[in-house]
Amino acid sequence: MNNFPAFMKVRGRRVVLVGGGDAAVAKARLLIAAGADLAVIGADPAPAILDRAAAGELHAVARPFRAADVRGAALVIGASEDEALDARVAEAARKHGIPVNIVDRPDLSDFIVPSIVDRGAVTVAISSDGASPVLARRLREQIETLVPANLGRLAEFLRSFRGAVKAKIHSFDARRRLWEEVIDGPIARDVLAGRESKAREAMLSRINRPSEQPSSAGHVAIVGAGPGDPELLTVRAVRALQDADVVVHDRLVGDGVLDLIRRDAERIYVGKSMSNHSVPQDGINDLLVSQARAGKRVVRLKGGDPFVFGRGGEELDALRAAGIEASVVPGITAATGCAASIGMPLTHRDHASAVTFVTGHGVDGEPDIDWNALAGERHTLVVYMGLSRAASVAQKLIGAGRGPATPVAIVENGTRTDERVFAGTLATMPEIVKTARVGAPALIVIGEVAALADAARDVALRASAQAV
Ligand SMILES: C[S@@+](CC[C@H](N)C(=O)[O-])C[C@H]1O[C@@H](n2cnc3c(N)ncnc32)[C@H](O)[C@@H]1O
Repeated sequence: MNNFPAFMKVRGRRVVLVGGGDAAVAKARLLIAAGADLAVIGADPAPAILDRAAAGELHAVARPFRAADVRGAALVIGASEDEALDARVAEAARKHGIPVNIVDRPDLSDFIVPSIVDRGAVTVAISSDGASPVLARRLREQIETLVPANLGRLAEFLRSFRGAVKAKIHSFDARRRLWEEVIDGPIARDVLAGRESKAREAMLSRINRPSEQPSSAGHVAIVGAGPGDPELLTVRAVRALQDADVVVHDRLVGDGVLDLIRRDAERIYVGKSMSNHSVPQDGINDLLVSQARAGKRVVRLKGGDPFVFGRGGEELDALRAAGIEASVVPGITAATGCAASIGMPLTHRDHASAVTFVTGHGVDGEPDIDWNALAGERHTLVVYMGLSRAASVAQKLIGAGRGPATPVAIVENGTRTDERVFAGTLATMPEIVKTARVGAPALIVIGEVAALADAARDVALRASAQAV
């Protein structure tokens, strides 16, 4: 983020807008809507500006700009589309320490005027930091379709009850829960549907019924965060993150996913790497139980799917044993995420009729796996946590009869921006892991389907594999 986002109060304050054409008309419309005491300065004002002046919405000063015009202004906007004039406007504003924006000239501007979705009290502002105004506009169009037209009315309705709710309900958490219940429930739906008096009655009775204040019983949602790309979260996972009081997360959860957590939720990192258990599993279980007993809505956020090599089962057992209400939100596991990312099906009518997920890391090191049962052809084997045992996995499978030329794909940081993929064979796999310095998290996929990975990429990767 290169700029600090802020909304500025201009109601009743002098704002100077220099220009008289289309760009000035567009800016004038927004400044009038925000209640500015607007002076539009330019020798040749468009009829729309003169009309608004006649309606008393702005002062039209129909003469060339003078540096002294900026005096006393809270903001200055240059919309003349004349380079020399824009530069003079920027210079005059700077001289008086007044923030200035020049249309389409980020180099001359102190602030950006974002693309907006305007819903009365609710304004959504979008900026691409000048990188691509068209991209920002596209995003705005998408948001326009998502945000109900009369959201502003709902915001005003909620505002009208703020004082009453504060006076009646003293705990911050209880108030937040009430607001969430109202916004997510029938009261907000009634306002949005225009049934405001019905909503008002329901709201009054809700505020006046303390017995209906939310119970203090906490809840734990064990949520799968997917393999890293935040776009692979489920809708339910996003909602849980937005709803949580506390999020307990580990190392495999990427930053993009953490960005979706409600801003004032507490985050507790219990990061684990293969050989470095910073918080032991029992400690994590105790933490979840104690946070829930304190009445919090807890999200236990885990990489991939919580029930695939994720110890989600143990956490669920501990919560149930402690009598804590718990739910599980599935996530995209690394195998399916990586497979999709590199265009490699895990099963295929012509190449593989079964797929097995195994771990390369057992409770005490070596996993307890029947390699003979997994060595058949047309069988895809996905090895989680297999990097440090790549040589032993290859040796055991070849020993059990799997061909040394069986295709292998290794995906490091699958679905993330720093994803790397390596192609090889069962025989070359240990050497690739070593020479390419493949790092965790990485997945090893063994079987005929590995040869199907994204064709274009595969060519390059085979070249790199041959180089090893
Ligand atoms: C403790 S397991 C957790 C698996 C997780 N519950 C899941 O469903 O994907 C960690 C292993 O998952 C695999 N893994 C997780 N995220 C990955 C990613 N983005 N790319 C490649 N492998 C990943 C790696 O093998 C890593 O060592």
